[in-house]
Amino acid sequence: MGWEALEQAVTGCARCGLCASRTQTVFGTGDRAASLMVVGEAPGAEEDRQGLPFVGRAGQLLNAMLRSVGFAREQVYIANVLKCRPPRNRDPEPAEAEQCLPYLRRQIELVAPRALLCVGRIAAQNLLGTDANLGNLRGQVLRLGGTPVVVTYHPAYLLRTPAHKRRAWDDLRLARSLVDIGDGA
Ligand code: URA
Repeated sequence: MGWEALEQAVTGCARCGLCASRTQTVFGTGDRAASLMVVGEAPGAEEDRQGLPFVGRAGQLLNAMLRSVGFAREQVYIANVLKCRPPRNRDPEPAEAEQCLPYLRRQIELVAPRALLCVGRIAAQNLLGTDANLGNLRGQVLRLGGTPVVVTYHPAYLLRTPAHKRRAWDDLRLARSLVDIGDGA
């Protein structure tokens, strides 16, 4: 499936019950040939309203985190594990993630980024198929197939726990270095 067919499939998706409560699907945004792809958990209220990922307060912090290592938001590709907002922002149910993950996996194949930056435990666990906690996943280079993956804190968590911003910055620099290695830099 190419981009157009994939986006249409997501727009009309009724694979799980979230299709009944969504305002609209949130497919993904950014450069479809990006060297860095960011993977989040699921749309929140603002994302559900606008149809775009990471456009609320957490999104503003994500933009600042990316900027701190030299990426404009438009230079990366951003998508979530779930394309529809769970009611009251509850955690995705395993069956919802299972139904939705093929869309994200195809997006990753199409973008073919040099590195993936996974924000938050839920995104990391679903993408990597692990139940390890965030503390055990961050701060290192993991792999998804042949693609290096860096896991860091979710920006919504960092808004509540700013003391961890320094560690998140270390993770961001690690992701940046993976992109630069691919550049021959
Ligand atoms: N949190 C996420 O994980 N994704 C979004 O798009 C917004 C908030």
